[in-house]
Amino acid sequence: MYELNDLLILLNSSQAIISIETHEELRAVDLIKRCSVNIAKPVMKWSITSGIVDAASGVPAFNLMPMGATQNPKVEADAKQALREIASSRTPSVYILLDFHPYLDDPFVIRTVKEIAQNHLKNGHHLIFVSPELNLPNDFSRLSAKFKISLPDRSALRKLVLAELKIWKIRNTDKRFHANRKSIHLLVNNLIGLTVSESQRLIRNAIYDDDAISSDDLEKVQKAKYELIGQDGVLSFEFETANFAQVGGLTNLKNWLAVRRDVFLPTEDARGLDIPKGILLVGVQGCGKSLAARAVAGAWNVPLLRLDFGTLYNKFFGETEKNMRKAIELAEVMSPCVLWIDEIEKGISTGDFDSGTSQRLLATLLTWMAENKKPVFIVATANNIDALPPELIRKGRLDEVFFVDLPSEETLGEIYSIHLNKREIGISSIDLSELAKRSQGFSGSEVEQVVVSAMYQALALKQDLAIEHLLNEIENTRPLSIVMAEQISLLQKWASGRTVMAH
Ligand SMILES: Nc1ncnc2c1ncn2[C@@H]1O[C@H](COP(=O)(O)OP(=O)(O)OP(=O)(O)O)[C@@H](O)[C@H]1O
Ligand SMILES: [Mg+2]
Repeated sequence: MYELNDLLILLNSSQAIISIETHEELRAVDLIKRCSVNIAKPVMKWSITSGIVDAASGVPAFNLMPMGATQNPKVEADAKQALREIASSRTPSVYILLDFHPYLDDPFVIRTVKEIAQNHLKNGHHLIFVSPELNLPNDFSRLSAKFKISLPDRSALRKLVLAELKIWKIRNTDKRFHANRKSIHLLVNNLIGLTVSESQRLIRNAIYDDDAISSDDLEKVQKAKYELIGQDGVLSFEFETANFAQVGGLTNLKNWLAVRRDVFLPTEDARGLDIPKGILLVGVQGCGKSLAARAVAGAWNVPLLRLDFGTLYNKFFGETEKNMRKAIELAEVMSPCVLWIDEIEKGISTGDFDSGTSQRLLATLLTWMAENKKPVFIVATANNIDALPPELIRKGRLDEVFFVDLPSEETLGEIYSIHLNKREIGISSIDLSELAKRSQGFSGSEVEQVVVSAMYQALALKQDLAIEHLLNEIENTRPLSIVMAEQISLLQKWASGRTVMAH
C-alpha cells in the first residue's frame, strides 16, 4: 500500500520521468494503473510487440501500428515513432514504456525523451520506464526519479499463501488440506526476500505436491530460494540440520536459545526486543559444537548457511573481501537464517603472512555484525583459543560465548541413549549409568565411536549387541581427555570466567 502512495506522490509532484527496475513487470504495471484514478490521467502502455495501447483496455492508442505490425521489422522506428506520437499528444497521460532500455542510447530517443520531460508543465505527460535492467542516460537522469518496487513483506506473503490455499480449496472440494497456523507462519518466514512471482511459484509447488504445507516443503522452499539467489558459491547451503533431541547435555545453551526463538522469528508479542545476533561456541573437540550449530537451524526451522573462510580465500583469490560482502548480502536475503562459521579461528589466523587480508576480512564481518538489523543468527565455533582474535570475543559483538566442555556423567548416559536409539538398538536391557561411569572423560564423538565399534564387534561375533561389547570398546579407547590432558585443562582454565558453560 505504501508503494501506491509513494508512486502517487511522485506523479503528483510533476515527476516527468520515472524508472522502475524490476523483474516484476506485471506488478509494476498494475501499480501504475491503480494510480490512474487519483491523478485523473489515462495510463498508456508501450511495448515493441503491441505499440501504444490503453493499459486498462488494451485498445491501441494512436493507431500507431498498422494491422499485423507485430511482425514489423523496423522495431527501432517504432520506438521512435511512439515517442513522436507521445510528444505531439495533447491529452496529459502516463506512458509506461516496457523494455525500452535497448533504445536509450539513441540520440533521437534521448533528445525526444528530454523534450517531453522539459515540457511536462505544458503537456502533462509522464514517462515510466519499466525493465529488468535500467541505466538511464546522464542526459535526463536529473529529470528522472527511480522508483523501487519493494519486495513483498510478511503480511503480503501471508495473503499470497492464503489466496493460493483458497484456490486449492475451490478446485478440491472433496479433499482436506493439511496446514496449520504454525506451518503457514514458517512458510511465510522462508519466502521473505523473494519477489511476488517467485514466491507464488514456490507456494504453488508447496501446496500442490502433497496437499499440505509441511516441514518437507520448508526445506524445498529454502533450497529453491537459495538456488534463485545464491549462485556464486560464497556460502554453502547445508541440507543436514539436526534437532536438539539429538544433542545430549548443553542444557544452558538449549535454554538460552529457547528463550530467544520467538524474538528471532518475530511473533506479534516479541516486537521491540533486539534481535539476537549470535553465539560463539568454544570447546573441547568432538563435544558437539558443530552438532549444536546444525541443531539451532533445525530447531528454528530456518536455513543453515555455512560460511567457510577457506573457500573465500581459495575460490576467489584476490577478491576475498568483495566475496565476504557478497556472502553477507546473501545471508541477509536468506534471512531469517543461521549463518554458521565453523572453526572461525582457522580462517582468520593466517596472521602476518597474507598481507592483512584476514584482518580486513574479520573487520568486514565485525562491522556488519555491529550494524546488522536482519535476522541472521551467527553460530561460530572454535577449538583453538590462542588463535581467536580478542575483538571477536568482546561483549556486544556476539550475544554470548559458550564453553562446550566434556560431558558430565549424567550427560554421557544421555548421549549413549541418543546414539543407541538412533541405530535402533533397544536400551531397556543396557545399563546406561554403568556405561556413563566407565566413560568419564569421553567426548560425545568418542561415545558415538564406542557405539559404532561395539556394533561391528557384535556383528563379527554374530551376537546381538549387549553391554559387554560396549564396555569392551570403552576399555580399548584412549580418550582425548587423557591424550591431550594438558591442553584441555588449559582450555578449561581459560574458559572459566570468560565464557558461560553450555552444559
Ligand atoms: N552432546 C552430544 N550429543 C550427542 N552427540 C554428540 C554430542 N557431542 C558430540 N556428539 C557426536 O559426535 C559427533 C561429532 O561432534 P561435533 O562435530 O559436533 O563436535 P565438535 O565439537 O564440532 O568437534 P570439532 O571441534 O572436532 O569440530 C556428532 O556428530 C555427534 O554424533
Ligand atoms: Mg566441529
